[in-house]
Amino acid sequence: MGSEIPNKLAGTVALVTGGSRGIGRAIASAYARAGAKVFICGRRNDELNRVLSDLRRIGGQVDGTAGDVGSSEDVKRIVRSTMDRYGTVHVLVNNASLLGPRESIARYPREAWEDVIRVNLTGAFLMTQEALKTMLPQRHGSIINVSSGVGRVGRPRWGAYAVSKFGLEGFTQILAEELKEVGIRANAVNPGPTRTEMRASAYPDEDPMTLSTPDDIVPVFLYLASDDSIGVSGKSFDAQGWLKPAV
Ligand SMILES: NC(=O)c1ccc[n+]([C@@H]2O[C@H](COP(=O)([O-])OP(=O)(O)OC[C@H]3O[C@@H](n4cnc5c(N)ncnc54)[C@H](OP(=O)(O)O)[C@@H]3O)[C@@H](O)[C@H]2O)c1
Repeated sequence: MGSEIPNKLAGTVALVTGGSRGIGRAIASAYARAGAKVFICGRRNDELNRVLSDLRRIGGQVDGTAGDVGSSEDVKRIVRSTMDRYGTVHVLVNNASLLGPRESIARYPREAWEDVIRVNLTGAFLMTQEALKTMLPQRHGSIINVSSGVGRVGRPRWGAYAVSKFGLEGFTQILAEELKEVGIRANAVNPGPTRTEMRASAYPDEDPMTLSTPDDIVPVFLYLASDDSIGVSGKSFDAQGWLKPAV
């Protein structure tokens, strides 16, 4: 907490998917405290509304709508609502994700496979395509894809989740190449083990108090949203232990 510089993100509009809890909530909160106008989504209205009131209480300019990033109609509505509210999108954080079953490929249920890929990978694709409709004409934007260590090295029983994160790393590289001439950057961030509901589902026997909190890992997300990272694209960052490059 407290690593953000007040007003560092003044004038910036950021759209954070899965902003209703865990890492997405911490990113949304850090962005709002740094002066950004923040729009969040998540599927559950109650959790979303709770976060919105918490963030407004600390003076954040925040709004949001319930929606599923794996649905084209919902994605169109989420981005349109952001535009209606704030007029543009400068930063898109593709953070929403499902863990799915911790199962071997041999036993992985097809329905769960399709669901996880739809949300984690197709969701990022749909959100990016929609946000680019605004970012491309303004020739400015930062796309931040939340990846994972299991999206870099194959490990057993991570199934569709890991495959979606491998996909997201590749998606980030393709985007960075396609957008390098137009002033839009795309980077991936691996949060590392972080104290959230998803981590607790993946590692039920772990003591959560031994883990970094979502607030601990926001500095790299602040960097990638700010003008300090202009020109930085196609990279894959580790949020834990990340040190801002000297300027
Ligand atoms: N925690 C870790 O240790 C860790 C490590 C590596 C990578 N990550 C990555 O970090 C990101 C955040 O993870 P987390 O641990 O904070 O997870 P989390 O606690 O489960 O939170 C996930 C967020 O995404 C939302 N969400 C899920 N499915 C959605 C959908 N279809 N449409 C819109 N919103 C959706 C959830 O709200 P609803 O349920 O209401 O939709 C919630 O706000 C994920 O991309 C995850 O893969 C986490």
